Amino acid sequence: MFPLRRNRRLRANEAIRALVRETIITPNDFLVPLFVVEGKGVKEEIASMPNYFRFSLDLLEQEVKSLWSLGLKSVLLFVKVPDNLKDNAGKEALNPNGLMQRAIKTVKNACPDMLVMTDVALDPYSAYGHDGIIENGKILNDETAEFLAEMSISHAQAGANFVAPSDMMDGRILTIREALEDEGFTDTGIMSYSAKYASAFYGPFRDALDSAPVDLINIPKDKKTYQMDFANRHEALRETEMDIDEGADIVMVKPGMAYLDILREIKNEFDVPVAVYQVSGEYAMIKAAAEKGWLNHDQIMMESTIAFKRAGADIIASYFAKDIVKFLS
Ligand code: PBG
Repeated sequence: MFPLRRNRRLRANEAIRALVRETIITPNDFLVPLFVVEGKGVKEEIASMPNYFRFSLDLLEQEVKSLWSLGLKSVLLFVKVPDNLKDNAGKEALNPNGLMQRAIKTVKNACPDMLVMTDVALDPYSAYGHDGIIENGKILNDETAEFLAEMSISHAQAGANFVAPSDMMDGRILTIREALEDEGFTDTGIMSYSAKYASAFYGPFRDALDSAPVDLINIPKDKKTYQMDFANRHEALRETEMDIDEGADIVMVKPGMAYLDILREIKNEFDVPVAVYQVSGEYAMIKAAAEKGWLNHDQIMMESTIAFKRAGADIIASYFAKDIVKFLS
């Protein structure tokens, strides 16, 4: 007989589609990246990230209140550091009155219940645009990990709930966890960028923070000695397993759209919450295609975001978070 099962019955109209829909997104799914700059009254659009901005602290305060009112309860902070404060070791990162430390306090004052996560990496502070301290053309691993632990303590002291190391040095999760415990920050969590690939999709972010690796003799031109080779899959599982063993509370896959296979595998393999980061280049591509009228902005935004959750993401870091929540309501 003709098929007893006709799958199209379950797609016949919006009511039945809604009834059998497997994946639903809500404001609870999102982590909102925020770029912070020095100054007053500054809200600068990032050239390669249309409708995404760098905020000075006064306007950051307004922005987080607006996020909170939309039901967005978690932010991930990044700072654009003035050039004159950059050096090889990134020592400005430890300044208790530095931009990141003030940004954390600003968010906490404006919205005490907002979950504050901070990017822990050297690149915005590095004169060379790298995530590690450089010596003789090499990125030093253990020295960098120690430094990131100090940076994490500094963020915890300022009030961060979670630190998010995005550097990919070996052993940094354990180094950071032990340092946090030693200093009494037992409640400060770690969201580790565990499967972070050396990706060209980070281009617009490096514009946003002016943090691209510089082109100098004896300075590595890219981040391939620490971020992962995008041809690899097993390595992502190894990295993630190690980070969990070292004390990561949440693990992350990054970038997003081109790495859904990795996301699903990590979700299946491990039992900690898994985050995904839809990075700047992904945002830029969608914006650019929509500006040209080649793709429908809102439809692509929703389709790509639901795909992350379907692929296993518990948490989605996204520059579209605000637009999505508005779209949903
Ligand atoms: C810093 C960092 C980067 C991103 C997040 N944290 C850039 C990089 O590693 O070069 C990328 C985020 C994005 O592209 O949206 N280590």
